[in-house]
Amino acid sequence: MPDQFTLADSVAQLILTRTPLRPRIALVLGSGLGGFADSLTDATRIPYAEIPSFPQSTAIGHAGRLVIGTADGVPVAAMQGRVHLYEGYSAQDVTFPIRVFGRMGIRAVILTNAAGGINLSYSQGALVLIRDHINLQGANPLVGPNDDRFGVRFPDMTQAYTRAYREIAREEVHKQGMTLHEGVYAGLLGPSYETPAEIEYLRRIGADLVGMSTVAEVIAARHMGIKVLAISCVTNMAAGILDQPLSHAEVMETGERVKNTFEALLRAILPRVAKDVGE
Ligand code: HPA
Repeated sequence: MPDQFTLADSVAQLILTRTPLRPRIALVLGSGLGGFADSLTDATRIPYAEIPSFPQSTAIGHAGRLVIGTADGVPVAAMQGRVHLYEGYSAQDVTFPIRVFGRMGIRAVILTNAAGGINLSYSQGALVLIRDHINLQGANPLVGPNDDRFGVRFPDMTQAYTRAYREIAREEVHKQGMTLHEGVYAGLLGPSYETPAEIEYLRRIGADLVGMSTVAEVIAARHMGIKVLAISCVTNMAAGILDQPLSHAEVMETGERVKNTFEALLRAILPRVAKDVGE
């Protein structure tokens, strides 16, 4: 069995044989937010099942394919659906696609996710820039021997979510007359939603949002020096805030409702991030 670096490298080279594009930006599109990838032009679409060692998403609402194409002339590699720790994958499995991106020459990744809103100033459908995270997943993709070819043993996480990219997102949103909040994302293992007591705890430790993804991917990206922008869609207010149960159907419905706004935001941000990574 080759090591993860060698495997990621060979998969990256394989993917690059399928497209003339050489994207420096990757997108990871979360629950109900994968539609953007359908709008890419000159696209090569590769189901995860056709990519060796790629984990397969089992979650409803995740298409499970890699789309490499251009958005208004900017080449991007977009994951339409991701896998989660709660599906039984290890943190290394979950971050394998990020490792592959790194070996493909990706320099910036834009991650999106569905999240529960803890901060009471948010409402359902709100878009929130992730400023920082709290890893409560009980897992870290860097556990085990460190491969120095990826990065250092103890990567700094002080500026995990690139400040300049958050600034760009805010400026673009402002131009579109929309609002964009900023907050701290607590990453939990799932798959059960949180209890109201857990949400109260998360609020007290400084979380504004809660979800079951993103954290491991951000850690792996930062390990490789890939810059990160992450945006949550508040698909529901977190448990115990409203007097109603949480459901996956609600998460998907909200994703669908904000789809156009979300895609417009991505489209506005991309050229500016592209400039930063030298495209
Ligand atoms: N909790 C955890 N993950 C989520 C939620 C939530 O309320 N909504 C969407 N993903």
